[in-house]
Amino acid sequence: MVERSEGMQSELASSDVRHLMHGYTNLARHQRAGPRIITRGEGIYVFDASGRRYIEAAAGMWCASLGFSEEELIEAAVRQFRELPYYHTLTSQSVEPAIRLAEKLARMLPMPDSHVYLTLSGSEANDFLVKFLWYYNNALGRTRKKKVISRLNGYHGATVVASSLTGIARNHEGFDVPLPGFLHTWDPHYSRYHLRGESEAEFVARILSDLERMILSEGPETIMAFLAEPVTAGGGVVIPPAGYYEQLQALLARYDILFLADEIVTGFGRTGNMFGCETFGIAPAAMTLGKALSAAYQPIAAIALRGDVHEVLSAASDRYSSFGHGNTHSGSPVGAAVALRTLEIMEKRSILEHVRRVSVPFLSRLKRLEQNPLVAETRGVGLIAAIDVRAEGARDAGMLKGLAEEEGVILRALPGGRGVALSPPLIISEAEINELFDRLELALARAR
Ligand SMILES: Cc1ncc(COP(=O)(O)O)c(C=O)c1O
Repeated sequence: MVERSEGMQSELASSDVRHLMHGYTNLARHQRAGPRIITRGEGIYVFDASGRRYIEAAAGMWCASLGFSEEELIEAAVRQFRELPYYHTLTSQSVEPAIRLAEKLARMLPMPDSHVYLTLSGSEANDFLVKFLWYYNNALGRTRKKKVISRLNGYHGATVVASSLTGIARNHEGFDVPLPGFLHTWDPHYSRYHLRGESEAEFVARILSDLERMILSEGPETIMAFLAEPVTAGGGVVIPPAGYYEQLQALLARYDILFLADEIVTGFGRTGNMFGCETFGIAPAAMTLGKALSAAYQPIAAIALRGDVHEVLSAASDRYSSFGHGNTHSGSPVGAAVALRTLEIMEKRSILEHVRRVSVPFLSRLKRLEQNPLVAETRGVGLIAAIDVRAEGARDAGMLKGLAEEEGVILRALPGGRGVALSPPLIISEAEINELFDRLELALARAR
């Protein structure tokens, strides 16, 4: 059953308001306005309880990379549920899907001899990674080298540590985060933060010299790692200027600071390569993965460590007699089986080549939106993009998001009402890209 009767829709909505708590929602307004209830998906489209169809141009939360009706993933999950619905990978136990997934990831990842720890969410992955690296530096006797620098406007999740890594004020308000030891430096958003007359190269030099000043004033012996999304996603779809990552990595290497790549959005094809690290020439010491790892069909995420980092953890655990960390669903077989099948589908159907091909019309239709006076700027790479609006009076990004929904397109709002983001399922066709932008142009025309 897809559509719900009007009576059922209102009964569901009032029950939602009474019992279900929603994240990233004004809870009081939600009590008054109620939810939108999605009941079905097909390809890049989702349908609400009244039967209205939307292009899911955000792929849910940047994650449903293979759309909403991939039979092969359903079949992989059902088969694994029948064979072994649950087991774990703690205390030296293992399961075949987790082994095969780790093996496949190790072959794909741009780090030598990677070892992978499987968990359930991107937030946990970032949280655990920091914890693993505290253990790492303790093992190396660097007991003061524990602080992490991340970037303003970066988003890294919702646990206490992941939200401390996050550099978005809205995620800190009222929550007693960030914790001490989590520092934030510039977001490399040239068009937003450059000084008058400053070139891209000068901007990069300035923000990196501010970072160096932060490292020196804190003491390099206290800074463990720098964590960043190759493309800042939820905080604005920020694509750094040329030269930024090269100079940043050289700076971090000078002070023996590990580069950690949060690839939870950029991983698995979003930027036109398997990983954002490949698109931007980043050589990380560790990576976090999630979302499109399973095309979002199962909750699964991963922490991948470069071989030499893992080696240190391994030797230390021998001294302690155990690596004192684990969670019930680590390596959960259904999640791993679905992730493995996702990666196989990506290869079998040449999803990367597809993304590279369709990103050409995607990015050119995106650029064309700048002709609209309401649009201040667009940014994009691969199949991830932002549209910043010129906010005047009631015309802001929230309004554009609402008008786009009326035209049958779901977008993601960016913080501060500045713009909206697009990250459609990677399987989107050229015809569907044209449909998406035709609808956005209609929404923009109505916003004038
Ligand atoms: C870049 C990035 N890192 C981490 C996370 C957190 O992942 P999760 O919501 O699965 O905990 C997100 C979620 O949007 C993200 O965009």
